[in-house]
Amino acid sequence: MTDTWDTIADWYADLVHHGSAMHRFAREVLLDALPADMSGLRVLDVGCGEGLISRATAGRGAQVVGVDPTARLIERARAIERTAATGATYRVDDGCTLATVAEGWADWVTAGLSLNNVPDLGAAIASVRRALVSGGQLAFTVPHPKAGFA
Ligand SMILES: C[S@@+](CC[C@H](N)C(=O)[O-])C[C@H]1O[C@@H](n2cnc3c(N)ncnc32)[C@H](O)[C@@H]1O
Repeated sequence: MTDTWDTIADWYADLVHHGSAMHRFAREVLLDALPADMSGLRVLDVGCGEGLISRATAGRGAQVVGVDPTARLIERARAIERTAATGATYRVDDGCTLATVAEGWADWVTAGLSLNNVPDLGAAIASVRRALVSGGQLAFTVPHPKAGFA
C-alpha cells in the first residue's frame, strides 16, 4: 500500500491542498469528535498525509506528531509547516508498528481516512492502543462506499 501512496503522493497532496470537498467534509467530521480546546494535550495523527488533520489539532493548541509511512507526504507536510508554522512535527512511521512513538505518549490518536489503508488493521489498533495513555481516545474516519460528496 505504501508503494502506491509514494507514486501518488504529490497528486494527493495537491488535491487536498487545493481544497477537496470530500477531505474537507471528512476533516470536519473528525474534528467534531475532538475537544475544541486541546491545549496541553498530545495528539498522534496516524496516516497524517500532508498534515490536514495535524494542522487542525495543532491549531486547537495540541502538541501534535503526525506519522505516515509515505516519505514524500511527510516531506510535503514539513514543507507546509515551514511556510505556515503550527508547531506540528512529522515523522516517517508505519501505523502498524508506530516504532517511533513511546508507549503511552498520546492523549488522542487521530486517523483521518488512513485506517482503511493499513495492511493489518489489528496490528494498527494494537499499536494505537500502546501509544495512548490509559483513558486516551482514538478518533478516526473511514470512507463508506455509499458516501457521496458534491
Ligand atoms: C486518504 S490518505 C489520508 C491522509 C490524511 N490523514 C488526510 O486526511 O488527508 C491515507 C493515508 O494513509 C497512509 N497510509 C498508508 N499505509 C499506512 C500505514 N501502514 N500506516 C499509516 N498510514 C498509512 C497513506 O500514506 C496516506 O497518507
